[in-house]
Amino acid sequence: MYKTNQAKSQAMTEQQSKERIKFLTEKINEFNYKYYVEANPLVPDYEYDKLLEELKQLEQQYPQFALPDSPTKKVGSDLDTKHPKAKHKYPMLSLDNTYSKEDLSDFHNRIIKTLGPNDFFYTCELKFDGASVNVTYKNGKLIRGLTRGDGETGDDITENIKQIKPIPHILKGNDWPAEFEIRGEVLMTHEMFKKLNAEREENGEEPFANPRNAASGTLKLLDSNEVERRNLICFFYYFAMDDYPTDSHYELMQKAKEWGLPVSEHMRRVRGIDAVMNFINEWEEKRKKLPYDTDGIVIKVDSFALQNELGFTSKFPRWAVAFKYKAEQAKTKLLSVDFQVGRTGAITPVANLEPVFLSGTTVKRASLHNEDQIKLLDLHYGDTVIVEKAGEIIPQVVGVVKELRPKNAEPVKFIEYCPECGTRLIKKEGEAKHYCPNEWGCPPQILGKIEHFVSRKAMNIMGAEATIKQLYENGFIKDFGDLYYLKKEDLVKLERFGEKSAENLLNSIEKSKNSDLYRLIYGLGIRYVGETVAKTLAKHFGSLDKLMSANKEELTAIDEIGEKIADSIIEYFSEEKNLEIIEKLRKAGMKMEEEQESGVGNKLNGAKIVISGVFDRYSRDEIKKLIEKYGGKNVSSISSKTDYLVSGKNMGPSKKEKAQKLGIKILSEEEFLQMIGLL
Ligand code: IVH
Repeated sequence: MYKTNQAKSQAMTEQQSKERIKFLTEKINEFNYKYYVEANPLVPDYEYDKLLEELKQLEQQYPQFALPDSPTKKVGSDLDTKHPKAKHKYPMLSLDNTYSKEDLSDFHNRIIKTLGPNDFFYTCELKFDGASVNVTYKNGKLIRGLTRGDGETGDDITENIKQIKPIPHILKGNDWPAEFEIRGEVLMTHEMFKKLNAEREENGEEPFANPRNAASGTLKLLDSNEVERRNLICFFYYFAMDDYPTDSHYELMQKAKEWGLPVSEHMRRVRGIDAVMNFINEWEEKRKKLPYDTDGIVIKVDSFALQNELGFTSKFPRWAVAFKYKAEQAKTKLLSVDFQVGRTGAITPVANLEPVFLSGTTVKRASLHNEDQIKLLDLHYGDTVIVEKAGEIIPQVVGVVKELRPKNAEPVKFIEYCPECGTRLIKKEGEAKHYCPNEWGCPPQILGKIEHFVSRKAMNIMGAEATIKQLYENGFIKDFGDLYYLKKEDLVKLERFGEKSAENLLNSIEKSKNSDLYRLIYGLGIRYVGETVAKTLAKHFGSLDKLMSANKEELTAIDEIGEKIADSIIEYFSEEKNLEIIEKLRKAGMKMEEEQESGVGNKLNGAKIVISGVFDRYSRDEIKKLIEKYGGKNVSSISSKTDYLVSGKNMGPSKKEKAQKLGIKILSEEEFLQMIGLL
């Protein structure tokens, strides 16, 4: 790949160094864009850090060749075109980082040269691997949340920050500074990451590469309800303000805890470099048991006065450094590559590896994601590859040891035809994946669609998941519409299928005809229509027929339905085969309308409702559920589209003001309950 070679850099001619500087500058800037803006990294961190280090050294040797847009002079920018921008009051700098303990000793020696030996504290903290944010509190209230952006200016994501449950909107106590900025890292837990990626794959969306990208991608969403659903967490680790109320960073962070701000409990104040090294050694293994990702330790001089004395370089503070743990890696051989076909026809290349033990499990297979990844790795059959676990969970091939490549090794080429049905693959503009377009003629796609239809979150047909393959292979079903025409006489002919199991399956199929409309919509397997979108569509249209005849304008007018989803829905209902299956379902007696439970259902008639404050009779979560149950929509922020604001105790005055300004009706808890007939 983009190999660093410091020995080589010594031997390079001036001209070669100039070219290498240009090459590295362009490459790293491209990596930065992919990493920060698209939340889709092209290279592993370790590889990236090596290239940046090489560029730094070359620029030191040949400052005349350093380019004005060099990534060594600025932090990578995450600014996008979707959000309003705002300036950080204090620039948001990054940290110098190292993988070596010798560098850490050098850092300590530089510090004691200025401060004198050991007469000061360090704080040792975990280095959280997520997306950094800057949140401003004024008079105890959260007033703004920004991404890091380019360090000077960030994207305004206040509404999304407010959806992160551990981040308080109002601080506890009263001894907080009148105004301050606090920086922290927003993270997604491993559990949520797995759940989200499984959902994304089911809906035909590209999964996130790791929890960090999932967190930064989530922060940039325009739909704050979706942000809330993804249960992000946060740890704050740095205050920026004019006058610190105490001289100790550690003590101020403990204060922050008292004010209700999320601060890690794994923070330690120590004296001397040995204690720092102990902390690093202690956490090398312990961190793997945490439910979120960390990639190192941050060491900070604790006293603000001493921090001030040490100052900053153009990019980093001189009083802090990040020690990064090398991701645990293993070398093994690439035996072969499988090309798997998913329910949506997406092709995923998967590397078959010589089994190797890595961070607690034996790795035999690793996803190669798509063609770009194979090209980037320059992968050849028989290569010795380096595997690493993303977020300590998913094994990934991150590099190739080219020196060990067998002679005449063949490069891994992406396939042109579907390995299952032989159809020529297609690749849509702007998408990384190849697809087999033969939706209803390609066995894994057909099976995948039927399995999805019967799955628990869709029609929940008990016992079917295990039987689908048998039914399909014996010619009893060709699509999920055929399930409703199965006969007991046929089923009992199947191997291991008795009278009782046949009856159970048929009963469960019969019962599924009365499923909620959203389950049917979700079960159809329309690309990008996951459970949440299916619920929105069911609520909005109330019947499958209305959804089927909706045009793009009607669809995109619904909150949360963008062009991509609308196009996919329209395409689905324009395919003859899909219409044919829907007719089979209809003739079999499938319920295709939303049932209105008496007294419940649609009392709120789709009204968009914001809730604020705390309530006497119900918790905030219960009120939200009531809104949904009675046919309303709970939205997080007030806009001209909001219909009601339900106000509890301690409602934020700004919300009230905004609602009044926009003429939105404000309801008390009692008025709301009366409206839905509960009082
Ligand atoms: S302190 C001026 N503390 O790592 C110093 N940063 O690679 C502000 N990070 O930019 C940063 N955990 O996004 C600090 N305990 C921690 C951290 C931390 C993660 C992030 C942060 C920073 C990056 C540097």
